[in-house]
Amino acid sequence: MIERENKHTILILGASGFLGGALYKELCSYFRTFGTYNISNRALEKNKHFFQYNFEEDDIYEILEIVKPTIIISALRGDFSKQVLLHQHLAEYVFIEKIKLIFLSSANVFDAYSKYPSYELDKTYSNSIFGHFKIKIENMLLRLPKKQIVIIRLPMVFGAQSPRIQEILHFLKAKEPIEVFPNLVMNVSSDSKMTQQIHYIINRNKSGVFHLGSEDLVHHDDFIKEIIASYDLEQKAIFKQVYTTNDERYLAVLPKFNKLPKHLQLKSEDILSDLKL
Ligand SMILES: NC(=O)c1ccc[n+]([C@@H]2O[C@H](COP(=O)([O-])OP(=O)(O)OC[C@H]3O[C@@H](n4cnc5c(N)ncnc54)[C@H](OP(=O)(O)O)[C@@H]3O)[C@@H](O)[C@H]2O)c1
Repeated sequence: MIERENKHTILILGASGFLGGALYKELCSYFRTFGTYNISNRALEKNKHFFQYNFEEDDIYEILEIVKPTIIISALRGDFSKQVLLHQHLAEYVFIEKIKLIFLSSANVFDAYSKYPSYELDKTYSNSIFGHFKIKIENMLLRLPKKQIVIIRLPMVFGAQSPRIQEILHFLKAKEPIEVFPNLVMNVSSDSKMTQQIHYIINRNKSGVFHLGSEDLVHHDDFIKEIIASYDLEQKAIFKQVYTTNDERYLAVLPKFNKLPKHLQLKSEDILSDLKL
């Protein structure tokens, strides 16, 4: 039996999603963990630790009052302006209750810088609507006391059950082309490593901005081709090469200041070897 570390009650917003679900699985044996889902789901309806919640319609305070979390993890997707409003409410609650908020952000907060990888303290700069939206929430949270905030900037996250890999397998089966971006230089992550990293951040009571990507950089097209090769399906693949610029473009988040211990760092090849298992 795993002994619960009773010090925290965790609420994961978006626990029915890819990353929220992986975090729920990782944390639920160690902490009192609750989660939300949006689309009706029979299995989750019966689970007393899950609440149906739609940030476009429902008030989050009701769930906060029931759960009384000491840590909220935000792992949502959906309408940008409604998400901004929700995070304004969360920021107020976190400040008043002196609890912690962990926000899953994205390497896209740097997508207007194309020539270099980005580090934790670099100024965010985006030319995409998605990047702007993530920056808006990050900036709102960065006004809170530093100890109460964790901003996790993630590159593309892969894993056997990840929507990205499921989509590739679907295209292979349907004999449809798979989009690759030959000029995109990026780092990558996996759901299994990301959940261990966040578990460590919670256990050690860390705060601030974390760049949770692989130590090495890969070209998008090479990495996708290696994923397909790890399933021995390279003969079946048709690619559509998409060039967004003439030059190489970096979308990589590397750590310089908030480094995690060696066993929690990852290389892109670790993700490929996990897929071969
Ligand atoms: N996956 C990646 O590669 C990656 C990379 C960088 C950053 N991120 C960030 O990580 C976070 C989670 O990503 P993900 O890939 O795990 O997303 P996902 O699988 O699409 O999950 C999104 C979650 O949000 C919930 N949701 C959607 N609309 C909602 C609404 N109107 N009200 C309440 N909940 C709603 C979904 O509920 P239902 O399941 O009920 O629809 C689901 O639980 C996102 O903020 C994303 O930007 C992900």
